[in-house]
Amino acid sequence: MSSSTGRPGADGPPTAAPSTHPITLRVNGAEKRMDIDPWTTLLDLLRESLDLTGTKKGCDHGQCGACTVLVNGKRINSCLCLAVTQDGAEVTTIEGLASGETLHPVQAAFVEKDAFQCGYCTPGQICSAVGLLREGRAQSLDDIRELMSGNLCRCGAYPNILAAIDQARRQGNGGQTP
Ligand code: FES
Ligand code: FES
Repeated sequence: MSSSTGRPGADGPPTAAPSTHPITLRVNGAEKRMDIDPWTTLLDLLRESLDLTGTKKGCDHGQCGACTVLVNGKRINSCLCLAVTQDGAEVTTIEGLASGETLHPVQAAFVEKDAFQCGYCTPGQICSAVGLLREGRAQSLDDIRELMSGNLCRCGAYPNILAAIDQARRQGNGGQTP
């Protein structure tokens, strides 16, 4: 009679532990080389390994946009992205948008328009807005509302968020990255 328990490796040779993978990223202008587990999300790598906690974990399921960062200039939900798939990429987080003491134009617009309350969604909103403005597709407030619909704000600060992004859009420099 089989003594199988159904667990991998229970009856055969021990199952080898998955190996880590080497990865190199350029994060906010600095090269980072790491060995990571293959299931590590970009969000967890940023927050847990690099201590870049400005990027927030909201739903961890691609539903809220709190984890939005820029990868090679494009906005992505970092909770849905396995870090190993981004070897060699340029990653910009909220910590990397300002130039020294000078806020990024989108950051400055958020301050000017008072576009946050608790602030939890704000890093994702700002990174997403920078990506949106780089895309160059938003021509109106309605466009911004539609194209920012993946970024939720539980505080309901939407009118001021939209006003801030629209201001940066009209200034024409909101899509720049350092
Ligand atoms: Fe990534 Fe919500 S934490 S979309
Ligand atoms: Fe609180 Fe957006 S400012 S969730």
